Amino acid sequence: MRKVYRGTDIEVSFDLDICIHIGECLRGHRAVFQLDRRPWVLPDEADPDTVAEVIERCPSGALLYRRLDGGHQEHHASTTVTPIRDGPLLVVGEIDVRREDGTIEKLPRATLCRCGHSLHKPFCDNQHLAANFRAPGARFKIHISPVRPRPREPIEKSEDPRRLS
Ligand code: SF4
Ligand code: FES
Repeated sequence: MRKVYRGTDIEVSFDLDICIHIGECLRGHRAVFQLDRRPWVLPDEADPDTVAEVIERCPSGALLYRRLDGGHQEHHASTTVTPIRDGPLLVVGEIDVRREDGTIEKLPRATLCRCGHSLHKPFCDNQHLAANFRAPGARFKIHISPVRPRPREPIEKSEDPRRLS
């Protein structure tokens, strides 16, 4: 379920269910994205352009933003699909994703399962790690952090410190 964190100039939303725990958010701006605090996202801790730039690095679409100040909204002129080595398909560009329950969400970025083992299709949920899935593709940089304590194992939602905020 998507949670909303409203700031003065930008609104941020986060859906833990589709996060693939790469850690770009925590690395991107420590004052805006901080785990030992509730809420973990404080959009006003940086200027809106910086918040938007960090969020656009989130590959899964777990983090989205909406500018409230008339600033640039995320937009991609085309849609690209890139296989990630031993992992999901990375989609960048606006797509409508139909979830298993039939609901449709418009996303500007998504990581979609290609190993067949996700318990949350069509999204990747890192079960490819447990399945030891191997396939060629581009490399992802994974940042070890409290949301990704073990690089080669999927993290349970119940272990993620952001589930409560
Ligand atoms: S996919 Fe990565 S950048 Fe996006 S919310 Fe999850 S940990 Fe943060
Ligand atoms: S590719 Fe990640 S769970 Fe299938």
